[in-house]
Amino acid sequence: MRLVFPQGFALVRLVLFLAALLPLARLFWLGAGDGLGANPVEFVTRSTGTWALVFLCLSLAMTPLRRLTGDGRWLRLRRMLGLYCFFYAGLHAGLWLWVEHAFSLLEMLRDVGRRPFIAAGFAAFVLLVPLAATSNTASIRRLGANWQRLHRLVYLIAVAAILHYGWHKAGKNDLAPVLPYALTVAGLLGVRLWWALAARLQGKRDGARREGERRPSRGGV
Ligand code: HEM
Repeated sequence: MRLVFPQGFALVRLVLFLAALLPLARLFWLGAGDGLGANPVEFVTRSTGTWALVFLCLSLAMTPLRRLTGDGRWLRLRRMLGLYCFFYAGLHAGLWLWVEHAFSLLEMLRDVGRRPFIAAGFAAFVLLVPLAATSNTASIRRLGANWQRLHRLVYLIAVAAILHYGWHKAGKNDLAPVLPYALTVAGLLGVRLWWALAARLQGKRDGARREGERRPSRGGV
């Protein structure tokens, strides 16, 4: 069933590709016009962190959308969205490494050990690296079934990213902005868990039925 993209899928991808660059273009625009506020580094760190999380949530939504609509092309958008998540997370983490630690790896690791919210963000970013590196078609072919296993790390990444954001905001007694993201991630992971459990249960039922059919009937005529 191809309900969602009747035609023009290449156009959909192009529009999405360009739209995903708008948050970056906005930062350049604001920067050029002195519009990044009193603390431009904080502004850019927050903006890139937020967009990394938005693209993470969007990429997690693609598999449920494929299942609900029956259109496999959602999965082709997933790769682009995942790479944009990595891109914004890279800018976000790179800025921290540059501005706060002047690219000193030792200082960076000290910060990771000292601040739990940084450790959670760092874990999310480190786990994103192998996913981004293996998102190409050649890796999918080469890794076979292991590719899917590896890419299940995205669930861990989502939890680490929410912890990172939540910890950061909890320190400021302001958890409200985290809630929509936390609920989105919980919903997107929850629906997968539900489907996996349902498939398992169905498999067990089918197995029991087949077993019943194979067994000779007792006490027949
Ligand atoms: C090495 C990895 C990371 C580091 C060092 C890091 C660091 C930070 C820092 C220092 C802040 C606070 C900004 C401020 O208020 O001044 C922050 C906020 C944030 N980070 Fe990260 N982060 C990392 C990875 C990630 C990843 C992978 C994501 C999402 C996928 C993410 C999402 C966010 C969000 C949503 C915020 C809050 C933005 C806001 O306050 O509006 N971070 N991060």
